[in-house]
Amino acid sequence: MNVLVTGAAGFIGSHFARLVRERESTKVVILDALTYAGHLSTIRDLIEQGIPFVHGRIQDRSLVESTVREHGIDHVVNFAAETHNDRSILESGAFIESNVLGVQALLEVCRRCGVEQFVQVSTDEVYGSILEGHFTEGSPLEPNTPYSASKAGGDLFVRAYIKSFGMAALLTRGGNTYGPFQYPEKLIPFFVTRLIDGKRVPLYGEGTQVREWMHARDHATGILAVLERGVPGEAYNVGDVNARENREVVRVLLEETGRDPSFVKKIPDPRAGAHDQRYAMTCTKIAALGWKPEIEFERGLRETVRWYIQNEAWWRPIVAEPDFQEFVRAFYGPSLGDEL
Ligand SMILES: NC(=O)c1ccc[n+]([C@@H]2O[C@H](COP(=O)([O-])OP(=O)(O)OC[C@H]3O[C@@H](n4cnc5c(N)ncnc54)[C@H](O)[C@@H]3O)[C@@H](O)[C@H]2O)c1
Repeated sequence: MNVLVTGAAGFIGSHFARLVRERESTKVVILDALTYAGHLSTIRDLIEQGIPFVHGRIQDRSLVESTVREHGIDHVVNFAAETHNDRSILESGAFIESNVLGVQALLEVCRRCGVEQFVQVSTDEVYGSILEGHFTEGSPLEPNTPYSASKAGGDLFVRAYIKSFGMAALLTRGGNTYGPFQYPEKLIPFFVTRLIDGKRVPLYGEGTQVREWMHARDHATGILAVLERGVPGEAYNVGDVNARENREVVRVLLEETGRDPSFVKKIPDPRAGAHDQRYAMTCTKIAALGWKPEIEFERGLRETVRWYIQNEAWWRPIVAEPDFQEFVRAFYGPSLGDEL
């Protein structure tokens, strides 16, 4: 199998590329635009092992097509996306570019080049928020943020290519993911890196929003199960059944960084609309492929905090970048003020 992994200089894609790399019979090629969220430092080990890296956007059809032809690519797994909900609240244009137009461009190249299988990495957020019960793969798409709306747009294009062209495409809809190499704007690494530096962390409201957390390595094995054993044309939820309120997660982060509860600053949610209260889904379909998550949440979370403590060389240059600073100022400035 020759797999093109797009967006692998980011968080989950890098875990997936590393996992696939362990398969001796599989050749991996990475394509990534190195947006603010993508860093070569995240995949330095893979590049040093000789994995080909192509710098470019998934919207660039001629680049993607020449990459597919040059490397004899027969499978494509797409992680490339704008991924931060909070940024999509500030400005959503880039989300349409990568998450809708980019997916359509990739699908078109795959169709033209006769790629055997295309896996689109999507999110459970396309289903919206659910107060009770669980979403299944058949639940309606009711996204609530510009980010999740753009991901739903990508999902619908995948569906259209399956229906219109009989394309062998599959969708994975993953839950909230944590682990090493996550860009420090996301809740867990944002809080951990601030706590390491002795800064207070901003918690929306009482922190009662519920999320089901999954380790990036488990998310990657789930996507690999779908790539290897999924039924073309189908969507698969990928998640771990361990719902936690955000405030419970924060308690572990405080403990592991040696900070007390005074390091939490409760702030009003900067969104004018509602914050999705709860995400939850059933994952029986992917379980039938023989997949289950392996990493127990609290252990994985504590190990992740220790990884950030031990890998300042990875995240310090990132939090010093103007892009990171500007986002934090724009989003948290009004509530954190001098504490930024
Ligand atoms: N992080 C989560 O909790 C989570 C949960 C479910 C699903 N997902 C999905 O998983 C995928 C990966 O998420 P992540 O958290 O690893 O993201 P990330 O933001 O860490 O990485 C995204 C990567 O894509 C690259 N990229 C962005 N736009 C591109 C473009 N147009 N062309 C080429 N490369 C581009 C970036 O440079 C970066 O390396 C996304 O599709 C996301 O929607 C994420």
